[in-house]
Amino acid sequence: MAQLWGGRFTKETNKLVKEFNDSLPFDKNLIEEDIEGSIAHASMLGKQEIIPLADSEKIVAELKAILEEVREGSFEIKEGYEDVHSLIEATLIDRIGETGKRLHTGRSRNDQVALDMKLYTRKKVKETSDLLLDLQKVLLEIMEENKETIMPGFTHLQKAQPVTLAHHVGAYFEMFVRDRSRLTDLYRRMNLCPLGSGALAGTTYPLDRDYVSELLGFDGPTRNSMDSVSDRDYIVDYLSALSLVMMHLSRFSEEIIIWNSNEYRFIELDDSYSTGSSIMPQKKNPDIAELVRGKTGRVYGSLMSILTTLKGIPLAYNKDMQEDKEPVFDTVITVNRSIELFAGMLSTMKVNKDVMHNSAGKGFTNATDAADYLVNKGVPFRDAHSIIGRLVLICIEKGISMDELELSEYRKISDVFEEDIYEAIALKTCVDKRNTKGAPGSEAIQEEIDFCRNYIAEECAK
Ligand code: ARG
Repeated sequence: MAQLWGGRFTKETNKLVKEFNDSLPFDKNLIEEDIEGSIAHASMLGKQEIIPLADSEKIVAELKAILEEVREGSFEIKEGYEDVHSLIEATLIDRIGETGKRLHTGRSRNDQVALDMKLYTRKKVKETSDLLLDLQKVLLEIMEENKETIMPGFTHLQKAQPVTLAHHVGAYFEMFVRDRSRLTDLYRRMNLCPLGSGALAGTTYPLDRDYVSELLGFDGPTRNSMDSVSDRDYIVDYLSALSLVMMHLSRFSEEIIIWNSNEYRFIELDDSYSTGSSIMPQKKNPDIAELVRGKTGRVYGSLMSILTTLKGIPLAYNKDMQEDKEPVFDTVITVNRSIELFAGMLSTMKVNKDVMHNSAGKGFTNATDAADYLVNKGVPFRDAHSIIGRLVLICIEKGISMDELELSEYRKISDVFEEDIYEAIALKTCVDKRNTKGAPGSEAIQEEIDFCRNYIAEECAK
């Protein structure tokens, strides 16, 4: 039995139609979820005496055996079935005969597939969240080791003000805090059980939907059967959250690529996370970062694909919804792998602290601090800005940094300058003094690092 219907048909399905319609080649991914859902459904049918208790027990026992085989890899997924639901039901009937035919009582593939996809997505949401936490652990290590690693902070990709690597990496830690909180939100929102909604209008059997929902670890049953079989919002939520994760990873990739470039040399990626060129022997390329950046497009594509698929579908179930699966499966693998690889790439890279420091020393990243020096001596900020601007110009002409400019030159522009200007514009001073909440100064960054450490401890304990 390769299909679950046929009684009212007088002709065989056209071969191309069957191929086009079948979803087993990809929904076999849902095999565990499908069996888990069926076990809960069959248990409830027995408890409610909708089918004889002995039958329910027999069905559950066989489904558990099949699940075991699937998990240990000995279950053969035979081709030809319409979908994973047909495959499991047919296998059950093959193995236990007539009793197996009672499993689908009070159920439709519409609520069945809605459940399977939810169970799958729920599992994957947790996986993504755990992987992000692992990545954050790597970020925290980098932060702890680089509280004093001064580097230029950029705006417009032009050197702006000195920061530290801990501060820069901490920015990504925060992005992933938000990404993880989005995953928590969507998990909470989606965690209602659609099973028991039937094809669209519920059923006349006395199903105990609360019981099934509890067995499967949901917060409760869904409230409207038509919505339940038609709802794929949570997939949009998930793909959208994953798109943001990729957007963050992609920005980070871009920075890693720049930092790893021959010109910057802020970092060096490990050999084990780089690749070579077939023609240019000297090359060591940051392919992983480039691929993560590239795959971001593919993930956005999946989000657009599901949004577009859903936009014109009338209530309730329509076959269009079968198109929700491949984008999700592809995206989950793409994103989860990207996060995992990113953690490995970052934990093995070498930080060239002196290159970063030297770079921060050039490009007048301390010019704002020089202006602030004048302000502290009573000069209005706008005047200070202009005085320092003129000094910067002099330095550019001389090809030197502000630290190298003689005090006499400073005093030609303003007699407010004294010997202590050099201390005021030293890179270390510029960074250390920035202690507003969230800034790179030593006290402020320590506060942020403490937050990150607590965050990880609390999240690990959940
Ligand atoms: N393969 C289908 C899907 O993924 C399962 C549900 C089929 N339901 C139906 N009424 N044909 O959506």
